[in-house]
Amino acid sequence: MPASFVITTPLYYVNAAPHIGSAYTTMVADAIARFERQRGQNVLLITGTDEHGQKIQRAAEQQGVDPQVHCDAIAAQFDQLWTQLNIQYDRFSRTTAPRHQAIVNEFFDRVWQQGDIYLAKQQGWYCVACEEFKEERELIEEQYCPIHNNKKVEWRDEDNYFFRLSKYQDALMQLYRDHPDFIAPPSRRNEVLSFVEQGLQDFSISRVNLDWGFPMPNNNKHTLYVWFDALLGYVTGLLEPEAEPTLANALAQGWPIQTHLIGKDILRFHAVYWPAMLLSAGLEIPQQVFGHGFLTKDGRKMGKSTGNTIDPFNLIERYGSDAVRYYFLKEIELGQDGDFNETRFVNILNADLANDLGNLLNRTLGMVKKYCQGQVPHVVGNDFAAEHPLAALGRSLRDRVIPAYEAYKFPTVCEEIFNLIRACNKFIDDQAPWRLYKQEQQTDVEAILYSVLESVRLSAYLLAPIVPNLSGKIYTQLGFDLNFNNPTVVNDPNLFEHHSQWGLLSSAQHLAQPQPIFAKLELPG
Ligand code: MSP
Repeated sequence: MPASFVITTPLYYVNAAPHIGSAYTTMVADAIARFERQRGQNVLLITGTDEHGQKIQRAAEQQGVDPQVHCDAIAAQFDQLWTQLNIQYDRFSRTTAPRHQAIVNEFFDRVWQQGDIYLAKQQGWYCVACEEFKEERELIEEQYCPIHNNKKVEWRDEDNYFFRLSKYQDALMQLYRDHPDFIAPPSRRNEVLSFVEQGLQDFSISRVNLDWGFPMPNNNKHTLYVWFDALLGYVTGLLEPEAEPTLANALAQGWPIQTHLIGKDILRFHAVYWPAMLLSAGLEIPQQVFGHGFLTKDGRKMGKSTGNTIDPFNLIERYGSDAVRYYFLKEIELGQDGDFNETRFVNILNADLANDLGNLLNRTLGMVKKYCQGQVPHVVGNDFAAEHPLAALGRSLRDRVIPAYEAYKFPTVCEEIFNLIRACNKFIDDQAPWRLYKQEQQTDVEAILYSVLESVRLSAYLLAPIVPNLSGKIYTQLGFDLNFNNPTVVNDPNLFEHHSQWGLLSSAQHLAQPQPIFAKLELPG
């Protein structure tokens, strides 16, 4: 069955080990994919690695290893990071795979038949770290790339094959007009519009004197430009693992893609070059290219080429995958730059997950044990009046959370859910069920504890795309058998309809022994 929702991460360069910047995009994509799966979509999350080009060839040379051996080793590290971050990807597209070459050749042939490829002289400044020619006016201090400002650009003067990008200027403007959401957020759209309005130049799609790439199908003295081949990695990623690698087979699995999630530095490739290539090949255009911001560490840009990175493996090892996912999703408005600061990281997790949520569940279960023989009270959600503070917030929570997920507004998702959680804490403090218990107001005690447990349950369900392990632990303590890491169980629209409503908890549930669900984090030494 073709996918109904396809989302991609960029295919990461394998010049060095993954850093937290690459992990960031993948965490966001995974949360989106998990949300869509949870509400019943047939999702394909495509990630992978971009393995050709000069940058990778040089990285391998510096290590003194064969480029393919180098790529295999780094691709395995990305895969391992995704496992540790609890990423549920469906496809891992590697651009050195032979099946990818078949797709690239078929696509190239379509563009060639269109007459959109020609041979000409390429002269200009090349940034190997970007794998892109730069305009002289873009350079910093005349020789440095504006993105990699510690890397000198290199002069190139060679015969290259060019793609007729200029021919698609009007069609692209039409596309941006007809599909105003094609580029998001709006600030990125404006950036692209002003770039395209200045006039598009054809770009070269082949290199000479470079071994590490696919040979040009029409002239094997040239290798295909790494970006021409890389973007097509998304199409290859659609293929079922055993399917014959043809364009038709790939496209049938879920073209056009819904969302390409990328960083703002590679916007031009995705929002200008890519749709033009697709128009030339006669293919439909993806629905959206979403350009997120950059992560900084203590205020400075992080990146492989600048050498200022956080080791994501180390971060996950010390704090766990849920903590890392929660911090980056809750803290950063997708599209804006965001900073990583370890003190803030620890403080936020302790405040939200350990205290507000973890302690709430723990103390409520403790009271249920003491005051209700450890049984979910015999109350049903419908017993609560519309103005009950938790029922009121809980019943309308999904109406605020679902649109926030749909708009990729994760800080809003977390804020809405934590409003309910904080309201629970306040409600308990205000109502003081321990006092009511002493006064033998058992019915009131039961209603209070039920409304809190149910609110925690609903919160856990709606937070599951962000913190699947934590939500699973909460569900287990509430007596449910629902593993949020098991897509075949979670991927159910009926389950979603039921569990995203407030008031389903029933006295038939067998509560488990209360256990801390999120241990308080300590700042290192
Ligand atoms: N190989 C290309 C993508 C090809 S897609 C067909 C590439 N790879 S990359 O490894 O250099 O970058 C991958 C992604 O990581 C990009 O979206 C980039 O924006 C993102 N990031 C790199 N450094 C980053 C931060 N410091 N912060 C957030 N994202 C960052 O480009």
